[in-house]
Amino acid sequence: TPIPKKQRFRVLRFLWRLTWLSTLGGAAYLTYHIYDSKHPPEQLPLDPAKKTLVILGSGWGSVSLLKKLDTEDYNVVVISPRNFFLFTPLLPSCTTGTIEHRSIMEPLRHIIRHKKRAVKYYEAEATKIDVDRRVVKINDFSDVKGNVSETEVPFDYLVVGVGAENATFGKFLMLCLFGIPGVKENACFLKEIGDAQQIRKKVMDCIETATFKDQTEEEKDRLLHMVVVGGGPTGIEFAAELQDFFEEDLRKWVPDIADRFKVTLVEALPNVLPMFSKSLIDYTEKTFKDENISVRTKTMVKKVTDKNIEVEATQADGSKVKESINYGLLVWATGNAVRGVVRDLMTQLPAQKNSRRGLAVNDYLVVDGTDGIWALGDCSATKYAPTAQVAAQQGNFLARLFNSMAKTQAVEEELRSLDARLQASADDAEKALLNAEINAKGRSLSKVKQLSPFQYSHQGSLAYIGADRAVADLNWFGGAISSATGGELTYLFWRSAYVSMVFSLRNRILVLTDWLKTKAFGRDVSRE
Ligand code: FAD
Ligand code: NAI
Repeated sequence: TPIPKKQRFRVLRFLWRLTWLSTLGGAAYLTYHIYDSKHPPEQLPLDPAKKTLVILGSGWGSVSLLKKLDTEDYNVVVISPRNFFLFTPLLPSCTTGTIEHRSIMEPLRHIIRHKKRAVKYYEAEATKIDVDRRVVKINDFSDVKGNVSETEVPFDYLVVGVGAENATFGKFLMLCLFGIPGVKENACFLKEIGDAQQIRKKVMDCIETATFKDQTEEEKDRLLHMVVVGGGPTGIEFAAELQDFFEEDLRKWVPDIADRFKVTLVEALPNVLPMFSKSLIDYTEKTFKDENISVRTKTMVKKVTDKNIEVEATQADGSKVKESINYGLLVWATGNAVRGVVRDLMTQLPAQKNSRRGLAVNDYLVVDGTDGIWALGDCSATKYAPTAQVAAQQGNFLARLFNSMAKTQAVEEELRSLDARLQASADDAEKALLNAEINAKGRSLSKVKQLSPFQYSHQGSLAYIGADRAVADLNWFGGAISSATGGELTYLFWRSAYVSMVFSLRNRILVLTDWLKTKAFGRDVSRE
């Protein structure tokens, strides 16, 4: 039976009102957040009676700690050469202009200005952590320097979250000690905003130089050969973005290079993306083949010059073949190495003598062999992979730990003063009241003190593999269910996951706008 006209009208009216209400709700939410982000409240001044907590770094670990830390309880000092937080998962998209670099940066000044108590920030590198004197030596290596560009910062508590630097070494002893010759001088890396900007410039420079009048055929081929070393997620995502750039934009705007532009990925292991499940590794390798990205597995780079890389490839029969590969752009993405300041700290501590990958820490992230020094993220050596997910969870854990330490100290102080009043009192009724209060405080103290050790909860791994496809190894319900998916739907999931994870509403709007802009007008092919 057909729905009566009156009822149909009611349903339509209801839907119309719902649309209006949700639009109004969305607008109110946006207005509130924009207003809030632009109007930080007054802050408490630093308090000499509070302990000084020094945080090194402004990356995933340190900023997650800062975000959840109750700064009312400490005088917090942040030291980092980078005055912003960088959302690294979208950094490969900045190399081709799919996303503009400022869209994934969040100024540290915005973050600290929204904390309850003022937080000091020094744009500097920590060059030495003096464990005995409990000071950090800091240097301003930026272009503009004042009369003072080197000083010391004392700490009561210290959190080391300086991340890692780019690995340039190989698996053999000599290469381990001195690094692979020529990498630092000739390759681009992909860790910081500056790296992505350099790559973007260099890709266009290679293209414009290849189309220079009277360029030889051989030289054109070299200049248009983009080589990526390292088949981990960084190398894979960058190679995918680069090939997308070529297929969707360069092929159209610079037709002369259409038959020559080539991306090659070189990996020492038998397959790429070793942390993903076998089906997704196969899917990625097949997708790369379809996209015309050449993948050279079992191929180890041994030496780099300004125009070529020397590799040793392992054949199917196990024999080794040496080869020279010309390149125009070389991007080096072979993982992490320990930073100098961390290596120096490790040499000061006998408890660190067996640690190779970074600072060994206990279950509460306290640096082994120290008291009051914690480490998190890529500069710490734990059983977990060096990822943003791990660093962020460690930051949240340390915020809980510091907040509960402050509460513990406050309750202990109250208990001491109640105890003093109890000793001084002669009145039985008052004594009974004080005893009851002491018991209640004692119970709340033991609750606050019950912080269990750090436990990582793996949500899964995601990677973009080009041509609007992504791979995802996901864990649901605390790991009870896991799934491995790849394709275009996974790509939509990848996008929505990252857009919901970027630091602020501002970042979210900028990233969404960049994606729309790229879809509508394509990527910018001008060289800055
Ligand atoms: P970082 O985030 O690297 O921060 C280190 C901070 O320390 C920086 O602010 C730096 O300026 C500062 N610093 C450096 N030296 C000093 C010093 N001497 N003194 C004081 N401060 C110093 N992980 C994922 O889980 N998912 C992803 O999708 C993902 N994508 C990635 C994509 C790329 C291109 C890269 C490079 C990494 C990606 N990662 C991803 C890994 C992730 O970014 C790192 O694991 C994470 O950044 C580690 O966090 P961290 O806080 O230890 O270090
Ligand atoms: P990685 O350590 O994951 O991979 C580096 C690769 O380079 C290895 O497979 C290694 O075999 C190869 N390699 C090393 N030396 C080589 C040589 N001389 N010649 C050829 N190949 C060589 O490094 P990556 O990709 O930089 O990642 C670092 C960390 O960041 C990892 O923990 C990773 O999981 C995380 N990350 C996660 C992402 C994601 O989840 N989407 C994206 C990017 C990074």
